[in-house]
Amino acid sequence: MTSPGSSYDPLTDGPDRPPRRRPGPTVGAVTHVLVTGGAGFIGTHVVTALREAGHRVTVADAGHPGAHREPLPDAVAGAPVRRLDLRDRAAITDALAGVDVVVHQAAMVGLGVDLDDLPEYVGCNDLGTAVLLAAMARAGIHRLVLASSMVVYGEGAYTCPAHGPARPAPRTVADLAAGRFEPACPQCGTALEPGLVTEDAPLDPRSVYAATKVAQEHLTAAWARQTGGAVVALRYHNVYGPGMPRDTPYSGVAAIFRSALEAGRAPRVFEDGGQRRDFVHVRDVAAANLAALTATGTMSGWRAYNVASGHPVTVGEIAGELARAADGPSPLVTGEFRLGDVRHVVASPARARAELGFRAAVPPAAGIAEFASAPLRG
Ligand code: UD1
Repeated sequence: MTSPGSSYDPLTDGPDRPPRRRPGPTVGAVTHVLVTGGAGFIGTHVVTALREAGHRVTVADAGHPGAHREPLPDAVAGAPVRRLDLRDRAAITDALAGVDVVVHQAAMVGLGVDLDDLPEYVGCNDLGTAVLLAAMARAGIHRLVLASSMVVYGEGAYTCPAHGPARPAPRTVADLAAGRFEPACPQCGTALEPGLVTEDAPLDPRSVYAATKVAQEHLTAAWARQTGGAVVALRYHNVYGPGMPRDTPYSGVAAIFRSALEAGRAPRVFEDGGQRRDFVHVRDVAAANLAALTATGTMSGWRAYNVASGHPVTVGEIAGELARAADGPSPLVTGEFRLGDVRHVVASPARARAELGFRAAVPPAAGIAEFASAPLRG
């Protein structure tokens, strides 16, 4: 499978070149932006950043119980909230009246509970996106920022000392149970060295959620091709920060550790804690959305960007730093594993820096210290 940003999409100029430029609206002009999922964790920060930049914003949010335990607010950062499910064609058509750009954050996230979640993931994330794209085309709206995810890559980038770049197979129960956590070279079995994953890496979704994110990318690429529109897909790495939902079956590891510490329990670190991720602060994610919004005014076609801090850390380090900052019990490295987990995913932030002018501003140490006592939602 290839990335829509590479050979898949003929409108895109190719993975190693910047997107096609076209004259756009005056940068800085007030734009009316519809933010789907704008009442959620990331959406709230995105809406705040857009409002601070002077844009007019309307929020569309379904108030899905997986993301919202409290009733939806009437407004987010002064932007009115419309409660609607994206699959409701009449409601989304109505909400798009007078809108210039859509910033599409709404999605069911995480690994879910079991396969009974599958229809709802596909319904919210893919059917919802399809109904939105059709309504945008009817309304003549051609600019879209898509919240995608690093989960589209599956495992990150690896190199074998003897055989060069390698694509490891999913890890087996036998290997994980024996504590062999590092993916092995398919040719010689040596443990691979992790490297930085770039946007033209092959797509390799390893969970239902990941599959729905890949489908969103392909659907939006096809839409851009057919409408001549502009899509920026932001592949978020591990987002954390104030307002993150408390521990749920859909939560990422930062919220799980933070919730454990809040309850006086030690964070439980799976595997040996050496798995690497890029934890990016939610205010940086909001800034990336603002930069992407501007880019959709001057480009056409489809383009993906990693949204990452550029400072990879291990899961064990994050647990240790959070525990220290919260003055809580030290993490327990349990050796447990989840079959769906990938070992390392660490991003190159270079393309977003070069083309969007986005550079994460919150250093991980400061961000984690703030997060240790920041309010959570729900
Ligand atoms: C996470 C999100 C994914 C999102 C991506 C980028 C989930 C479940 N995953 O992927 O949706 O797109 O970030 O933002 O929401 N771990 C522990 N202890 C725990 C739980 C997890 O050590 O209690 C470990 C896991 O084994 C894994 C790592 O922490 O190695 C990260 O887990 P998690 O945050 O769930 O998943 P990601 O794959 O990073």
